[in-house]
Amino acid sequence: MLQSYSVLIVKPKVFVTRRLPEKGMATLREHFEIDLWEGEDAPPKAEIVKRIADADAMVSLLTDPIDAEVIAAGKKLGIIAQYAVGYNNIDLQAAAQRGIIVTNTPEALTQTTSDLVFALLMAIARRIPEADRYVRNGKWKVAWAPELMLGQDVHGKTLGIVGFGRIGVQLAYRSAGFGMKVLYCDNQKNEQAEKEVNAKKVELDELLRESDFISLNVPLSEHTRGMISEKQLAMMKPTAYLINTSRGPVVDEKALAEALKMKKIAGAALDVFDKEPLPSDSPFLKLDNVVLVPHIGSATRETRERMGAMVADNLIAFFAGRNPPNPVAAKK
Ligand code: GLV
Ligand code: GLV
Repeated sequence: MLQSYSVLIVKPKVFVTRRLPEKGMATLREHFEIDLWEGEDAPPKAEIVKRIADADAMVSLLTDPIDAEVIAAGKKLGIIAQYAVGYNNIDLQAAAQRGIIVTNTPEALTQTTSDLVFALLMAIARRIPEADRYVRNGKWKVAWAPELMLGQDVHGKTLGIVGFGRIGVQLAYRSAGFGMKVLYCDNQKNEQAEKEVNAKKVELDELLRESDFISLNVPLSEHTRGMISEKQLAMMKPTAYLINTSRGPVVDEKALAEALKMKKIAGAALDVFDKEPLPSDSPFLKLDNVVLVPHIGSATRETRERMGAMVADNLIAFFAGRNPPNPVAAKK
């Protein structure tokens, strides 16, 4: 009885713009009819426009440009479930105007991304990638030398956290294990974190002047675009490091490359860039005082599976007539 009934149920059609780790795909397949873009890279916009036309839902990545034109093409579209915490690739106003719900995958990657910030911080302070290249390239000739590959201490230093949201706060907890002092800037004061770790809310200028390590953990918006430029870099200590795992355009890359080249700051560690993949003529590639990784903040097996499960949960809730657990709202 149940069996003959179930064949009559039409599963909602979901356009998925890239193959997710299998666990997530399996859950999606169980509940939905999947239209999967099999390309290794993002589908071209024309392809998204075409495929979205008869989709009830879409699973998007941060490399998919979901602008007003794409959204208008989604005639049946009810929900866009983004496989990321950031959603600056989606025109939220356009979605809201058409009554389309947008969701993201927040808590799933908080700890993992915070881990990466710390890995980058340690890597640039102790020159790990540079030292690894040194060994591999056969340059290690003297067994032990008093001044070989000298970096800087991490413990006891001041960490400046720009954007004290989920990821930023976790960073403060990690830094406590290294006896670091934390300065943060954010619109909101976080009393609990201030009590539990040695954290103090300050203005950006003070954070820039006082910190030994500065980590950017803000979303990309019109307020944060280019917020770290020549003027802000000039305020940093010449011994300080900048770590960016948020979005490339938060930093003026030209100004940063210049500051690194002229040794106006000690170094930078970057997971995100203006253009991804990083163009082969990027000035960063010629510099030793910068650590470069390919946008891997959330890249662990466990977290990418959790993100897949969250995407599925949001879609399942929506099509069951419930509120999806992770909606994102357009900022006024
Ligand atoms: C990654 O950058 C994300 O926003 O999830
Ligand atoms: C370093 O290897 C030391 O023994 O100080």
